[in-house]
Amino acid sequence: MCGIVGIVGRESVADALVEALRRLEYRGYDSAGIATLDHGRLDRRRAEGKLSNLQRKLAEAPLPGDIGIGHTRWATHGRPNETNAHPHATERLAVVHNGIIENFRELKAELVAAGARFESETDTEVVAQLVSHLMGQGLGPVAAVEAALPRLHGAFALAFLFAGEEDFLIGARHGAPLAIGYGQGETYLGSDALALAPFTDEITYLEEGDWAILTRDGAEIRDITGAAVRRPRQRIATQAYRVDKGNHRHFMAKEIHEQPEVVGRTLAHYIDMARGQVVLQEALPFDFARLSRLSITACGTAYYAGLVAKYWFETLARLPVEIDVASETRYREPPLERDGLTLVISQSGETADTLASLRYAKSQGQHTLAVVNVPTSTIARESSAVMPTFAGPEIGVASTKAFSCQLTVLLCLALAAGRARGVLDAEHERAIVDALITAPGLMAEAIKMEAEVEGLSREIAKARDVLYLGRGTSYPMALEGALKLKEISYIHAEGYAAGELKHGPIALIDESVPVIVIAPHDAIFEKTVSNMQEVAARGGRIILVGDARGAAAGLDTLATLTMPDVDPVIAPIVYAVPIQLIAYHTAVFMGKDVDQPRNLAKSVTVE
Ligand code: AGP
Repeated sequence: MCGIVGIVGRESVADALVEALRRLEYRGYDSAGIATLDHGRLDRRRAEGKLSNLQRKLAEAPLPGDIGIGHTRWATHGRPNETNAHPHATERLAVVHNGIIENFRELKAELVAAGARFESETDTEVVAQLVSHLMGQGLGPVAAVEAALPRLHGAFALAFLFAGEEDFLIGARHGAPLAIGYGQGETYLGSDALALAPFTDEITYLEEGDWAILTRDGAEIRDITGAAVRRPRQRIATQAYRVDKGNHRHFMAKEIHEQPEVVGRTLAHYIDMARGQVVLQEALPFDFARLSRLSITACGTAYYAGLVAKYWFETLARLPVEIDVASETRYREPPLERDGLTLVISQSGETADTLASLRYAKSQGQHTLAVVNVPTSTIARESSAVMPTFAGPEIGVASTKAFSCQLTVLLCLALAAGRARGVLDAEHERAIVDALITAPGLMAEAIKMEAEVEGLSREIAKARDVLYLGRGTSYPMALEGALKLKEISYIHAEGYAAGELKHGPIALIDESVPVIVIAPHDAIFEKTVSNMQEVAARGGRIILVGDARGAAAGLDTLATLTMPDVDPVIAPIVYAVPIQLIAYHTAVFMGKDVDQPRNLAKSVTVE
């Protein structure tokens, strides 16, 4: 996914464009670029790699002009180099793009046949050449964009800047988010409110198919038919969009440490502490008692949160759950009963596969419930009900606080479902709520183990392969722990159901393979002990993430991270901390780019 920004300003815009791009860098950082008009003349600066490379270029060769566009890239088509960096331009215009133009090859062939000369390998350059070609046939900028948009298939958010046109930009949205911000004699375009927070707190989100002409007086918005439309203006809580690391070295470290606070904030929203009961603020447009099953779909870490939730819904609400990764759900097209419920989980609320699965579920007549961290996101706006997490902006690409907040919301929802279905009595619910309320404090306790984890990470950093094992709700935690480690340290890691080890993976075990076992003392702990003994008998080096009773089990381990005693039901929320710290400190020790790992982006709004 990429980030785009545009400003029709009253003074030089280059620095403001870069500041907006800095806030969008979490969406992709393979390259960056801006274009401005100076006395009508179009000019660009682009750089491979991080935004800091572009800033160096601008310091050497400033770009004047009080109107411009900018882009930070996660490469979809074409290598992450300067030639493929946005903005892409002809002598008539420059354009920046987030998304994928799926029919770019046939459009490119048509334009080359008409004499267009391409310089890049990207799909986006086709947009610049198409609009330029239409202008060459006599259309003005607005008419040319209006004629070009229907020719573009796929997902896009676009911003256009035209040579000689100092007073307007054009933005367009189809399948990728785009917001307009309103300033004092200035108007802004951005992929999300985070980018625009330094300039304004008054935002309009374009709807699917909308496009807009931005001037210093505001914006004229048109829908997919070209008809003028009005979209609501809303104020965003800009103070919530602080994006600094505080006194931490990385955003990921800050966000791991924020978890006690933000999980507490999430609990406060969903739990009536006095009554010891879950209270869902908004009435849900469906009745859990009438559901025969629940479908869950998500990607990555959000999917693992859904896997944990499967255990909770099935044990606490006796509600059968079908779950799949959204990239499979959207094409598997599972039979879904009308008036059933699909639950989608997404930190960003913009993940393309999850959005597509949501739309499929709606097409089948399902109620849809979104657990998201961005209430203004596309997934939130297209779902029939939303349960926000209150993690605050999560900048580190590796999801941490959003994950533990997702788990918190999902457990609250499972409790509400159990009550609604008459299978969870008030006493049992209160006992679990009382345990839930202790989660923030226990997470703070777990964070205190950081120095111990840091020492252990030096051992893990030597490994070529790492296995994570867990049973019950610790099995999805093993999967999540493996994802965390591999996505920021680049060490190959796999999560397995502990009971599955003997069916093949145990062949991997030798002294070179650390085996991280997530095992709070619960009803199946002894079963996991047997698996650990199988590993130890083959020279495997076990790192036990358990509690005092686990530590006292006399197991032959390389190390034991002794967690505070935790009610097994809430263990996944609390045990998120050690698995995050293990990944973080291993990656830091290895000198990896923890907040912006190679090849990744914070939210994948393309297939
Ligand atoms: C998690 O650490 C990863 N960055 C990634 O798997 C992420 O969870 C996935 O892309 C889903 O993103 P979403 O929650 O914004 O939908």
